[in-house]
Amino acid sequence: MNPVKHVAIIMDGNGRWGVKHKKSRNAGHRAGLNTVDIIINQCIHNKIQVLTLYAFSSENWKRPKNEIIFLFKLLENFLKKKINKIIEKDIKLKFIGEINKLPIKLQKLIKLSEKKTINKKSLQVNIALNYGSKVELINTIKKIKQKKIKLNEKNIDQNLYTRHLPDPDMLIRTGNTHRLSNFLLWQLSYTEIFFEKKLWPDFKGKDFNKILNKFKNIKRNFGSI
Ligand code: IPE
Ligand code: IPE
Ligand code: MG
Repeated sequence: MNPVKHVAIIMDGNGRWGVKHKKSRNAGHRAGLNTVDIIINQCIHNKIQVLTLYAFSSENWKRPKNEIIFLFKLLENFLKKKINKIIEKDIKLKFIGEINKLPIKLQKLIKLSEKKTINKKSLQVNIALNYGSKVELINTIKKIKQKKIKLNEKNIDQNLYTRHLPDPDMLIRTGNTHRLSNFLLWQLSYTEIFFEKKLWPDFKGKDFNKILNKFKNIKRNFGSI
């Protein structure tokens, strides 16, 4: 049985869900938050150490301004409303991505949420926000150059946003789309990938557990036989 330490998720399909059920993409984003709650609880229940959620990509700036503003507002309200529950559940929050390019108000809230949960231990939740894997890799290589250390695998690992964390064991992408969309390209080298037909707001605990059970029985080779 494979141990699961780190699960990464591309939470896709909110927009389509919103249009189908409420004629509004933003309603889908709001509905998607319930699934975030459900999956966090499932991770704690299954003693998973790290959950990395793709919330906003470096390419999502191409979307209409009103959708972008809505998404940031939604996250702001989520953090304000849920921070005490998050602390209670012993969750450590960490944001990965170009956080310094986000609205100042949101940046402050992000810093505060990280600070308040820095010593929490049951689950680390990474939220990838204004995240793009290519930018991450370029910044990592720049850091390595500045530090005047060798460009090798170990030093890349140790200068990514995900330093100190194991690579994801499994990646789930909901929304019936089979691509990585610039997510953790380096870290996913040997990750087991699961594409899920359901849209993110329709994805439930039992769907997550089904994938977890499938994962546990896969023979992982890492190049060996
Ligand atoms: C993913 O859902 C959430 C974000 C990118 C913020 P989408 O908004 O991409 O939903 P679809 O793919 O358009 O349905
Ligand atoms: C990936 O979804 C980003 C997030 C889930 C945050 P997208 O919906 O932006 O991906 P593409 O554009 O369809 O590849
Ligand atoms: Mg999408």
